[in-house]
Amino acid sequence: MHSRHSEWILILDYGSQFTQLIARRLRELNIYCEIHPFNVDLDTVREPHPGGIILSGGPKSVNDKGAPALQKEILDWNVPILGVCYGLQLLAHTEIPGSVEKAEKREYGRANLLVDNKEDLLKDIPNESVVWMSHGDHIHQLPANYEVIGHTSNAKVAAVRHKIDQIYGVQFHPEVAHTDHGKQLLQNFAYNICGLKGDWTSESFIDEQISSIREKVGNDKVLCGLSGGVDSTVVATLIHKAIGDQLECVFVDNGLLRKNEFDSVMHLYTRDLHLPVRGVDASDLFLNRLKGISDPEEKRKVIGNTFIDVFDDEIGNDTDFKYLAQGTLYPDVIESVSFKGPSATIKSHHNVGGLPEKMKLDLIEPVRELFKDEVRNVGRTLGIPDHFIDRHPFPGPGLGIRVLGDLSKERLQLLREADYIFVEELKKQDLYKDVWQALAVLLPVQSVGVMGDERTYEFTCTLRAVTSLDGMTADWARLPYEFLADVSNRIINEIKGINRVVYDISSKPPATIEWE
Ligand code: XMP
Repeated sequence: MHSRHSEWILILDYGSQFTQLIARRLRELNIYCEIHPFNVDLDTVREPHPGGIILSGGPKSVNDKGAPALQKEILDWNVPILGVCYGLQLLAHTEIPGSVEKAEKREYGRANLLVDNKEDLLKDIPNESVVWMSHGDHIHQLPANYEVIGHTSNAKVAAVRHKIDQIYGVQFHPEVAHTDHGKQLLQNFAYNICGLKGDWTSESFIDEQISSIREKVGNDKVLCGLSGGVDSTVVATLIHKAIGDQLECVFVDNGLLRKNEFDSVMHLYTRDLHLPVRGVDASDLFLNRLKGISDPEEKRKVIGNTFIDVFDDEIGNDTDFKYLAQGTLYPDVIESVSFKGPSATIKSHHNVGGLPEKMKLDLIEPVRELFKDEVRNVGRTLGIPDHFIDRHPFPGPGLGIRVLGDLSKERLQLLREADYIFVEELKKQDLYKDVWQALAVLLPVQSVGVMGDERTYEFTCTLRAVTSLDGMTADWARLPYEFLADVSNRIINEIKGINRVVYDISSKPPATIEWE
């Protein structure tokens, strides 16, 4: 489903690791934008006409054979264009092939931008400021009608503009946090050069989505699987606002939820958010099917398929259901459309992917253009309570991928208690909001301990807490020793079956956040 804000910026992706950041920065300026592969079919992005186009950076050299090219037609659209790094080189190369070459002194990382002209793109940026470079090529010959508006000690051409048309380019990356005034530069481009108002907010997003959901669904019915997480809850609340009880939600107890999770989340759904939701206890079905399965990917598959079967059962023969609502987020979308192709599967993240084909349902994914923090903002605007919105992410397969190896009710119960103590202490000691995600993992390893005068031979629990922006990369949280000591004492004293607690000090990459 597509509902594009009338004022927007098109970002053409040439494969830079920073492309998503361009989108983030623009969204922070309340500008709606979309990332498309450089070779997107232009017919799909023509309407409504973008107010500006940004050509992203990319890993290739424009002189490489088969390097991603510019679709020249966009130069005739009469829309302001900003080329970033590879994007700039592409503009130069398109006009003068060979005008870009390997820089004599390569400039990676920090550089000092010296501003030569402050009229437009570099307005309100100090004469000298730190910018971030990440490319080995430089422009050595400027095409006709272009002029330099900024340089560095190593690069004569660090920022340029076309003398007549609204075409600009920068050799550095304004979108990264290390470029001091990058946001100002993007703001100059979006507000002043493209003339956009910056009126894209949670409220306008909600209004646009409500009318487009109504239009799409008509009198049909929508099914939404709730996971207890923020994304699906926001999606359900939004759709409910649009079509009321034509929406039906299902929240499944898969036996892999946290302590008290099913009841407290059902309470939120029904009492606070007034969602039409059926709670289904399918824990025995899930746990039976998972018996004897210890391979992580196999577990994910069984859990995913069982979700589909449970939903299928719930729908029964009701043919009024035409749509399935999902909380797909923008990072998931980009990963699958980028011209680089889908990245290697590290873990197959669960969603109810097989259901639409089986039931012949169409998908509704109202937050597929948003980042996680934007979904949280939409949720707040929709009136979902803060304590719920600020919850740490929790994976679809739940505790099933945190009890390593074989699953059993007993092991799940041990982990459930440990997880509860860890999270409870984080909240009590005011550390919950300092970490992006915290979890306990039960290792299938027993070790010797001593309690009282007795020898024990029990399981090991790992605590993992990470700081992160989006879960793509993460660092282990430097939690205070005293706090870790408190949690460890409580877990070992209160849970019979765990006699050892360790803290995970691995970053992602090379480790991942979850252990399976
Ligand atoms: P990893 O372990 O890949 O996790 O570093 C990154 C983030 O994704 C969550 N995660 C999942 N979420 N289904 C989900 O809905 C899954 O199968 C799944 N696996 C990992 C993880 O909790 C972390 O927030």
